[in-house]
Amino acid sequence: MTAITEAPPSPNSDFAFVDGVGLDSAAAYRLLVGCVVPRPIAWITTVDSAGRVNAAPFSSYNYVATSPPMLGVNVALRAGDGAVKDTARNILESGEFVVNVATEATMEAMHASAFEYAPEQSETEALKLALLPSRHVRAPRLAATPVQMECRLDRAVTLGRGVNTLYIGEVVAFHLSHAIYDGKRVDSAAMRPLARLGGPFYAALGEIIHRPMLQRPPGGEGWTGPKAPPAG
Ligand SMILES: Cc1cc2nc3c(=O)[nH]c(=O)nc-3n(C[C@H](O)[C@H](O)[C@H](O)COP(=O)(O)O)c2cc1C
Repeated sequence: MTAITEAPPSPNSDFAFVDGVGLDSAAAYRLLVGCVVPRPIAWITTVDSAGRVNAAPFSSYNYVATSPPMLGVNVALRAGDGAVKDTARNILESGEFVVNVATEATMEAMHASAFEYAPEQSETEALKLALLPSRHVRAPRLAATPVQMECRLDRAVTLGRGVNTLYIGEVVAFHLSHAIYDGKRVDSAAMRPLARLGGPFYAALGEIIHRPMLQRPPGGEGWTGPKAPPAG
C-alpha cells in the first residue's frame, strides 16, 4: 500500500500549500478556475416571463447522469451586487433551458454575450444571434452552434454558503448538426469545441490521442480473468 504522509506547510516544499477551509470566495474561484481546466462552455438560452430571450456562457458545467441524460450547470450570484443572474432567474421561473455548445467559430459572439446586459435587454437581439425553435421547451436554440440540448429543470441545489446554485436539467432533446453526427456518434474533433481556462483565456482542441480501453491489466500477457466489456 502507498503510504500517505501528512505534509506540514513548509517554505522549502516543491508545493505551495493553500488551506481550503475558510477560503474566501474570490480566492477559491481563482484557484478552481485555474486548476479545473479545460472546461467546456454551455452557451445557455432561456426566456423570461415576458418572452425575452437571454443568452449567456457558463463553464462550470458538465454532464452529470446518463439515465436519463442530465447536465449540471453552476450559476453564481453576481460578483458585484450579489444579484441573481438572468439565466438563473429564468431557469427557476420557466423550469427550462437550452445548452448550446460553444465552438471556435462562435467564440466572439459567445464572449460578447457574457456582458452584463440589463435584464430587459435580450442578448440575442443585441448581438443579432439567429434562433431556431425548440421542440419541448420555450427557450430557442442558437442556430450558429452544431449541438443544442433542450433541458427541463430537474432540481436546483444551492451549495455551501449560498453563492452558487447547481441547476440540473434533464436533456429532453438533442439537436445535432449532420456535419458532426453520423446517427450514432458525435465527431467531437469536427465540432471544434471551445474550452475555458482560468482568467481571460480560451483554448481550442490540441493534439488528439487515441487509447482504446485496456482488455487486460497492463503487462498482463497471461491474463485469464474476465475481459472488459467492449467500449461503447
Ligand atoms: C466563457 C465564460 C464562462 C462563464 N462561466 C460562468 C459560470 O460557470 N458560472 C457563472 O455564474 N458565470 C459564468 N460566466 C459569467 C456569466 O456569463 C455572466 O455573469 C453573464 O453576464 C450572465 O448573464 P445573465 O445575467 O444574462 O445570465 C462565464 C463567462 C464566460 C465569458
